Amino acid sequence: MIQNPAHFYRGRFSVAPMLDWTTRHCRYFHRQFSQYALLYTEMVTTGAIIHAKYDHLTFSPAENPVALQLGGSDPAQLAQCAKAAEQRGYTEINLNVGCPSDRVQNGLFGACLMAKADLVADCVKAMQAEVKIPVTVKTRIGIDDLDSYAFLCDFVQTVNEAGCQEFIIHARKAWLSGLSPKENREIPPLDYERVYQLKQDFPHLCMSINGGIKTIEEMQQHLQYMDGVMIGREAYQNPSLLGYVDQALFDPTRPIVTPREAVEKMFPYIEQQLRQGVYLNHVVRHMLGAFQGCKGARQWRRYLSENAHKAGAGLEVVEKALSFVAH
Ligand SMILES: Cc1cc2nc3c(=O)[nH]c(=O)nc-3n(C[C@H](O)[C@H](O)[C@H](O)COP(=O)(O)O)c2cc1C
Repeated sequence: MIQNPAHFYRGRFSVAPMLDWTTRHCRYFHRQFSQYALLYTEMVTTGAIIHAKYDHLTFSPAENPVALQLGGSDPAQLAQCAKAAEQRGYTEINLNVGCPSDRVQNGLFGACLMAKADLVADCVKAMQAEVKIPVTVKTRIGIDDLDSYAFLCDFVQTVNEAGCQEFIIHARKAWLSGLSPKENREIPPLDYERVYQLKQDFPHLCMSINGGIKTIEEMQQHLQYMDGVMIGREAYQNPSLLGYVDQALFDPTRPIVTPREAVEKMFPYIEQQLRQGVYLNHVVRHMLGAFQGCKGARQWRRYLSENAHKAGAGLEVVEKALSFVAH
């Protein structure tokens, strides 16, 4: 497991939890670009873990540091899942208080929990009683008409008083009805100033900012005010960005990792996964954006898309796709 240098906040740079995107294969790929990034799992519900038909907590220690994001609002079930995750070697447990989808609201978890700060506090308390690893909360700046700065402060204060020291703030509110999850990531405007203000008013808490951040320069800008930056879509769609993170945000002596290097470092992992019966496409679908902006990126993407799902597709498909990309 990689340890961050002690003087850096563990979440100084993180890749956001993204359903269906930040699978273990995706995280393994992202890890090839950056030693220091904190990588989040997709949200996993407590119900899925507890009543599982398969093991939702499987991951490779080589992906660490990894934070497991839990979806739920039953303190006892969350505590049970957090304990299991700690035993499995996860670095952090994160509670989802930001996802606005209907499915999530029916189960009383995600963004609707912003209106139930006392319940979130109970959840945090119950998890912290079971684990030594940090328990963090990812939230929005508001929901529906509960979008004043005072509301946000009350929420953070209540959850902090239960013991939570670390927050990730998606810098836009969510509308719980009327907008799809995708629209809720695009339509409510970003309000970075409000998140900076929150950090200023709670200086003793570790806070990361999330939403719309796309470049190293933007990250550096945010880090003047915040403890950490969390990147979602851009990290997934343009993972070569991650190759600059260690040098720019952690250690100037670290090399920049090129997409070609990261892809080649995946070869042993891909072979191992294929031997275990994993389909090639399940791994390489997360690698399609690797060469964004490079000559040959389209051919790379197209060749993989057209061939990686075919029965028996193996490493030779990736090697062939790589041959289309300029050195
Ligand atoms: C495909 C997709 C799936 C997502 N799934 C989750 C999730 O499981 N849990 C969560 O807290 N946020 C989820 N999000 C939201 C992201 O974590 C992040 O907050 C949001 O995309 C804003 O950051 P960005 O502008 O850097 O992408 C998801 C986003 C996307 C694009």
